[in-house]
Amino acid sequence: MTIAVLPEMPAGAGELSVWPSSTTPLPHGDLAVGGVPLTEIADRFGTPAYLLDEGEVRGRCRTYRDSFPDADVLYAAKAFLSRAMVRWVQEEGLGLDVCSAGELELAVTAGFPPDRIVLHGNAKTPQDLAAALRLGVGRIVIDSPSEMARIAAAVGPGGRQKVMVRVVPGVSAGGHDKIRTGTEDQKFGLSLTDGGAQHAITRILGQPRLELTGLHCHIGSQITEVKPYLVALRRMIGLMARVRDAHGVVLPELDMGGGHGVAYRPGEAALDLTALARRLRTELVDGCAAAGLPVPRLAVEPGRAVVGPAGVALYRVLTVKHTGEKVFVAVDGGMSDNPRPALYGVRYAPRLVGRHSAAGPRTATVVGRHCEAGDVLASDVRLPGDVRPGDLLAVPVAGAYQLSMASGYNLVGRPAVVAVHEGTARLLVRRETLEDYRSRDIGI
Ligand code: LLP
Repeated sequence: MTIAVLPEMPAGAGELSVWPSSTTPLPHGDLAVGGVPLTEIADRFGTPAYLLDEGEVRGRCRTYRDSFPDADVLYAAKAFLSRAMVRWVQEEGLGLDVCSAGELELAVTAGFPPDRIVLHGNAKTPQDLAAALRLGVGRIVIDSPSEMARIAAAVGPGGRQKVMVRVVPGVSAGGHDKIRTGTEDQKFGLSLTDGGAQHAITRILGQPRLELTGLHCHIGSQITEVKPYLVALRRMIGLMARVRDAHGVVLPELDMGGGHGVAYRPGEAALDLTALARRLRTELVDGCAAAGLPVPRLAVEPGRAVVGPAGVALYRVLTVKHTGEKVFVAVDGGMSDNPRPALYGVRYAPRLVGRHSAAGPRTATVVGRHCEAGDVLASDVRLPGDVRPGDLLAVPVAGAYQLSMASGYNLVGRPAVVAVHEGTARLLVRRETLEDYRSRDIGI
């Protein structure tokens, strides 16, 4: 298919700054992503639909590999996982971070090498641990004192599992209280300040079935500054030095987690990856030199920054309601495919696609179709004044923590996922149907 590109169209570079870099304005207010017009995706696959720009995902993986040439980059599967995603990440040379038997099985059955997978989780089930050991994951990250004995028992006599310890370094960072994990007032990790981490390390070192390869921390998510990472890194190096002093053990690995923030709307800040990589490396080399430690192998675990900006959500407008001062534009999705505005107050920048509007902009609130007043997708956004039923709205930066957190609320069914790449679109995950619900519901 040929696409008439109109570079002079009004959608300026600034307005599309948070869209995938392949995004191109088309005639009649349409946009192409990955070379495929959004109107065509809506017609072919229905709405709501999520599209993922394969080239954008791969490009972001490459940026990580280039920025962190001496580190392991593990994609955090919780942001979004599908078999195609597994393949892209693998082909681009990344490892994987999973946090359940489900994520792990999907990745391994899609062909991902288990030794490049790290298993996380504050409360791993017996099934999680059994799958990890059966499939041979590279590392299990210990997050609570009881896990050591459980893993050792599951490994059995003569066996040995590589583990890391998740440390809470006492650094507060992240885009919202619910996604700050670097301090003691939340459920993850073992504390540096109350000695929980040190105690766990001592016990692991005394357990022959566990091989401690290093330390891990993840201070939060949607972090846009480098500084909290540097503070955390210093504390982690300090702990590595204390482990060396107390036990004579030099740990070879240090995993600094993910949390790298992205812009959801034009003009918002994003974490500068090149700066992060450069300053982490300098701090690591200097800190280790000062502590007399060899430089450990660094790992990072980005999720959102790999897949978030590669995704676009497509909705059809169902109703437009004027209530007092407010204009509510209701679409055919909502909090079941994107709970993030309701959970974290995140602001998105939806956009009308598929027709040009001569009407001036008006402030509107884009809401979903769920039976709940909090079902808001984007509050107080500027949309053309004549938005009407049948219009298409597209929301950029929709690739992370939307579908992976999607629910079955109101049995509307989870949306289809479509990959776009070099002018073609293909279905990755089909839309959930009533038949899917009916087939699980086996009692009467
Ligand atoms: N590593 C660990 C151990 C994590 O817990 C997470 C995210 C990551 C890596 C990846 O973080 P990222 O680079 O994606 O920020 N649902 C929230 C985000 C929760 C993040 C949970 N852990 C949201 O929608 O913003």
